[in-house]
Amino acid sequence: MSYPYQIKSIEEYKQQYKKSVEQPDEFWGEIASHFKWRKKWNKVLDWEFKTPQISWFAGGQINVTENCLDRHLDTLGNKPALIWEPNNPEDFFRVLTYKELHFKVNQFAQVLLNNGVKKGDRVCIYMGMIPELSIAMLACARIGAVHSVIFGGFSAQSIADRVEDAHAEYIVTCDGAYRGAKDVALKSVIDDALVRCQFVRRVIVCTRTRIPVSMIKGRDVWWEDEIKKVETQGNPFVEPVAMEAEDPLFILYTSGSTGKPKGVVHTCGGYLVWTNYTFVNVFQYKPEEIYFCTADIGWITGHSYIVYGPLSAGATSLIFEGIPTWPDAGRFWEIVEKHKVNILYTAPTAIRSLMGHGEMFTQGHDLSSIRVLGTVGEPINLEAWNWYNKYIGNNSAPIVDTWWQTETAGILISNLAGVTPAKPTYATLPLPGVQPVLIDENGKEIESFGVSGNLCMKAPWPGILRTTWGDHERCRTTYFATYADLYFTGDGCFRDQEGNYRITGRVDDVLNVSGHRIGTAEVENAINMHEGVVESAVVGYPHDIKGQGIYAYVIYNGTHGDAEQTRNNINATVSRIIGPIAKPDKIQFVNGLPKTRSGKIMRRILRKVAENELENLGDTTTLLDPSVVDEIIQGHI
Ligand code: PRX
Repeated sequence: MSYPYQIKSIEEYKQQYKKSVEQPDEFWGEIASHFKWRKKWNKVLDWEFKTPQISWFAGGQINVTENCLDRHLDTLGNKPALIWEPNNPEDFFRVLTYKELHFKVNQFAQVLLNNGVKKGDRVCIYMGMIPELSIAMLACARIGAVHSVIFGGFSAQSIADRVEDAHAEYIVTCDGAYRGAKDVALKSVIDDALVRCQFVRRVIVCTRTRIPVSMIKGRDVWWEDEIKKVETQGNPFVEPVAMEAEDPLFILYTSGSTGKPKGVVHTCGGYLVWTNYTFVNVFQYKPEEIYFCTADIGWITGHSYIVYGPLSAGATSLIFEGIPTWPDAGRFWEIVEKHKVNILYTAPTAIRSLMGHGEMFTQGHDLSSIRVLGTVGEPINLEAWNWYNKYIGNNSAPIVDTWWQTETAGILISNLAGVTPAKPTYATLPLPGVQPVLIDENGKEIESFGVSGNLCMKAPWPGILRTTWGDHERCRTTYFATYADLYFTGDGCFRDQEGNYRITGRVDDVLNVSGHRIGTAEVENAINMHEGVVESAVVGYPHDIKGQGIYAYVIYNGTHGDAEQTRNNINATVSRIIGPIAKPDKIQFVNGLPKTRSGKIMRRILRKVAENELENLGDTTTLLDPSVVDEIIQGHI
């Protein structure tokens, strides 16, 4: 497969960038013409950010799986589409060619149809990292059902919230999942979640760990039994449904600064074009290469850069079931050597963690197949960048630092591997179609260089979110109302003299813990559910491995147990309400929180104490009771 739109030089990048801004319709119309459309669009782009109303390729009809699978069959049918590396290195790995993946997606699409799933229905997917997870997503896309994948680390309550919000009547799950030395019981979590969601009609359970599960009569069926039924039907080909370009492809829930997580909605045409275009250009994928993204498919990185981007480009995408540190911290490097991985895409938190285990785990592994390295999810510190460059990239593989978000569908700011220059700790330049602006504290655009501001986007790119499920107003107020006619990212950013962008982190109350996005309000709500907790305030603090750790200040008037016991109990509550990823790293018990006279918590002070910056706390005179600050400083952990 060739990629006529793959940028090959910095001059071409500049030219393409200019064209994308000056003539977006011509630019994206040309790129979209390389995909398989059932019906051509009438209008490439129509938009206004005020409401917001954004449409790409309106009037066009397309099926994403036809582009990810069917169109490759003639030329790439026997090429591996997915390589699956199991949790345990001693187990067999699996390879699915494009032909085989196509076959399995058709089979499961028929299973969904047999179980009553129709176009537009929402299907919640809660599975471990096995090929069947990608198969389930693609099968949904084939019949026009909207998938909502939930990361396997979320609790029953989080699942119930999401299943309810999307009114997902169908669930696809596994009996359990392997993650390192752990064996996670997924189906039983689903059972707990569904006590609250009686409207669910069907739960399809795929076998992985063979942990005993209880199956509810009339509701639960086994994946394997359903496939057998399809086999007796003669394995029908399921016609890919022609979707409107702006029909939803999936919902993915993500945390914000307030309230419950919101369901970011991406649509078929724009999402496909954007993930494909960015995959091909940022990683400079070459047709024979093995590409390994270590993310979990439960997050946007997995959706866009394990499943849709690589498969639409006819790439070989490696899926890894386990974790980087089990059986030991050489697991990634063993996989790279075993499968001769050419492109590795991972998160700074993983790099820092592996760096902490020492170079001896990289030594002894042949990493010479590596051509390109990538990072995503959080700012990468220089030390981690240098380590990645030296020990994994042998000082020669370009590192792409890719900045983007769940809401953006794909990469917005990044160097293009080997084509545009890297600058350590900088995401560098915007991709064609991406128009970043920096905004100062008065809401004015800063046009100069060597400046910092809040990062916004001036115009839509094909992958921008279209709405938040069931609540368009929330989409408007969260992203499009802070600054008129701009999409606000929630990130702070520095622009150097050459126009390179360096993302400095969130400016709202969203934490980035090990690359996972967690709202402080969500964690506070969970802590407050614990008996005896009166009030709490959560902030982030710098953490060597996780990037940010969670620091909770808790007013507690319960009487049971000692402080350590109470901390454990609070952590257990947070795990139950959200999931283990949201457990505070530190809990400090306090008698009061620093509040202004109007009752607003001054988080600035709490952040400084959590960061161990105990001097220069700034003006505390506006506090209702300034003495609480002394107590907080004294109790600092
Ligand atoms: O703060 C930015 C950070 O991750 C946030 C988006 O998180 P999420 O929607 O979960 O998506 C993560 C995977 C794309 C952003 O607002 N972030 C992501 N990539 C980078 C980054 N911060 C700095 N550098 C990056 N390369």
